[in-house]
Amino acid sequence: MQWDRSSLVVNGKRVYIFSGEFHYPRLPVPELWLDIFQKMRASGFNAASIYFFWSYHEAKQGNLDFKSGAKDIQRLFDYAKQAGIWIICRPGPYINAETSAGGLAFWASTGAHGVPRTADENYHQAWLPYITQVGKIIAANQITKGGPVILVQHENEYLESNYNSNDTKVLHMKQLIAAYDAAGVVVPSTHNEIGMRGMSWSTDYNNVGGAVNIYGLDSYPNGFNCALPDSGFKVVRTYYDWFQKASPTQPSYIPEFQGGAMDNWGGASYENCAIMTGTKFVDVFYKSLVMQKVSLLSLYMAYGGTNWGQSAAPVVYSSYDYGAPLSESRQVRDKMRETKLLTLFLRVSDDIKNTIFMGAGNNFTTSNPELYYNRLVNPVNNANFYYFTQNQTNLSSSLSFPIRVETSIGTITTTGSLDGRQGKFMVTDYNFGTQTLAYSTAEILTYSIVDGHEVLVMYLNQGQSANFVLKGFTGTVTFTGNGATAKALNVGNKHTLVTYTQNSGQTVASFSNGVKIILADTLTAWNFWAPALTSSPDVSADKQIIVTGPYLVRSAAINGKTLSLTGDTNVTTPLEVFAPANISMLNWNGANVYFTRTSYNSIKATVGGPAGISLPNLATLNWHSLNALPESDPDYDDSAWTVANHQTTMNPVKPETLPVLYPGDYGFHVGTKLYRGYFSNSGAPSAIYLKVGGGIATGLSVWVNGIFVGSWKGDTTTQVANMTFQFEKVVLKQHNVMTIIHDYNGHDQSAVKTWGPRNPRGIINASLIGAGKPSFSLWKLNGNAGGEAGVDAIRHPFNEGGLNSERIGK
Ligand code: GAL
Repeated sequence: MQWDRSSLVVNGKRVYIFSGEFHYPRLPVPELWLDIFQKMRASGFNAASIYFFWSYHEAKQGNLDFKSGAKDIQRLFDYAKQAGIWIICRPGPYINAETSAGGLAFWASTGAHGVPRTADENYHQAWLPYITQVGKIIAANQITKGGPVILVQHENEYLESNYNSNDTKVLHMKQLIAAYDAAGVVVPSTHNEIGMRGMSWSTDYNNVGGAVNIYGLDSYPNGFNCALPDSGFKVVRTYYDWFQKASPTQPSYIPEFQGGAMDNWGGASYENCAIMTGTKFVDVFYKSLVMQKVSLLSLYMAYGGTNWGQSAAPVVYSSYDYGAPLSESRQVRDKMRETKLLTLFLRVSDDIKNTIFMGAGNNFTTSNPELYYNRLVNPVNNANFYYFTQNQTNLSSSLSFPIRVETSIGTITTTGSLDGRQGKFMVTDYNFGTQTLAYSTAEILTYSIVDGHEVLVMYLNQGQSANFVLKGFTGTVTFTGNGATAKALNVGNKHTLVTYTQNSGQTVASFSNGVKIILADTLTAWNFWAPALTSSPDVSADKQIIVTGPYLVRSAAINGKTLSLTGDTNVTTPLEVFAPANISMLNWNGANVYFTRTSYNSIKATVGGPAGISLPNLATLNWHSLNALPESDPDYDDSAWTVANHQTTMNPVKPETLPVLYPGDYGFHVGTKLYRGYFSNSGAPSAIYLKVGGGIATGLSVWVNGIFVGSWKGDTTTQVANMTFQFEKVVLKQHNVMTIIHDYNGHDQSAVKTWGPRNPRGIINASLIGAGKPSFSLWKLNGNAGGEAGVDAIRHPFNEGGLNSERIGK
């Protein structure tokens, strides 16, 4: 693997990386990982970026688990390889990710293991075994060994604020480099800059040590407020200049580009986030990155999934759908289908992978303050790629503008058009197979080569007009279908000009030299797929086949005269395949399907149908119920519980009353926690004052002698809650017991004041109120069964908690 300022070069070939983020603990059923990878691959992605969660793999210090259930990351690599997806590994040790403690092992978040995210030797010793072990598994799956791994990220959004070789951050990055080297990782190291806030860890910028091979910049231009999904929409046009400063000798890499948004407690819902980052956002923003020479791009998230069990940080609730291209229920959203228009273009357009940035601005053809353009030129064959948007990208009005460009067949003068919030590519001297488009004002989706002839797909919004010239072609053109009103003109007996207006649907232009150009409107184009005939993530035009119709086409294979396709349908669906002429058998999901040939020699069939699922009537089921909190009963037997007797803690927040009531200090990190505090009636206790650290949206309830005395219901801002509950309804005796149940919404991420992941979870102050200074005589606590060690390797630690039924009575 090599790289230069334009792209990665894998096995001697330039590739653009189009990746999306996926977190396996957010879909903890390994068999379903293949589904995600296949959907990404079918949508033209060639890579997935993966955070590995230290918290998930090392619940108890020293008990590293990369085997049980969804912790089996070897299966992850195997499925990726099977699907034809490269992997970008991001193992942390700190990852953020809206996951509890930002991914740090929970035991390393108590304060007992040094200062996280520094070179502190205690912290170093804490993470080193995990990084060593995950590093070895990654090393065994590198592309150099035939595996899918192409890049490994060090730390996460780690701002290099002090360019000093003795700075603790520099030393920490060096520790990471040493650990990955020792584990045998040889693929390029990367990092993700946090917004445009610094230029961190680039060998090209003020390198005082700790720099990685390929610098990256994260960007979320529409932010995270999904309440007004139509606001914002301002394209950032300074990425090219930024990378010129930060990493001019390296390919421009965006490790996280907005693929959706997280939604906070009380937020506007993920469907709104999906609208905010919807099809138009994809069209305008993602294309603009490519035209600023970004050649490694990963969407955060491709599939968000679910914050199962105890995996979330307090900022988010249980869904991590993210409004991502693949929804939480693994449906392909329209924005994914729009993304496919770009990914499939990039994968076969080799000329764009080696280009020079030729400028951008308003002065295209003539000075036009309403228009913005970018231009890239291939220095070898002079292929040009133009990109147009409205200067003010959030406008909804349309715009037409004059085009005057130089091509190998002379000066072209025509007119371009943009709808509101549209981004449009235009090419000149675009090579596909053995053919060349002298220019096209319609956008190119992709092309394949069938029986030695090119099949190219173009798209336009319905109602838009465009034209293109097939260079050197002077034969006849036949148009079939109602998708476009088109005509072909012979140009000077040398070339053929096609002018057309796009209707709804598709028209196939068959050129008498065997070339076919399909003219589809954007919505019809969303239904085009190009399943690969190779398992390599890098798919060339002769290794893909164009299929239209179904909701999803996962794979294609040609064996002799049989074409086998797999995919999903949501209704009975017409299927069309631009397949080789010798195909005599069509197989859809394992069954042979009757087909016909069209006049232009494609295959047509009908597949799918209603799924026929019926749900039981829930009302007629026999329901049972169980007391979920027997621990509130004063006679409950807590003899097996942990006695809270610590008088000191390493946590930076010192408790205001003793003993220490931070369950993490006693080895209970995840899920609901239970406390039982014993007190006598001396001192006339009449109320309890509690100060509790739980992070936002945390909740707590209190019983005395089995009588409920009060709850903290939680809200979207309070991280440390203060509360006083009166004992009015309780008849106090000589011996009393208070039961407290406290939920757990996770540990904070490092940006949360003051101590990030070390902000304590648990009771900071428990004071009985009464005239004669009443006090507790004994505290006991409990959490998930087995504590750090757990009792069930598959569920542990994210899917366990301290409720009675979860503890199986312990
Ligand atoms: C980034 C961070 C990710 C995630 C994202 C927001 O800054 O690197 O881990 O937290 O923000 O979803």
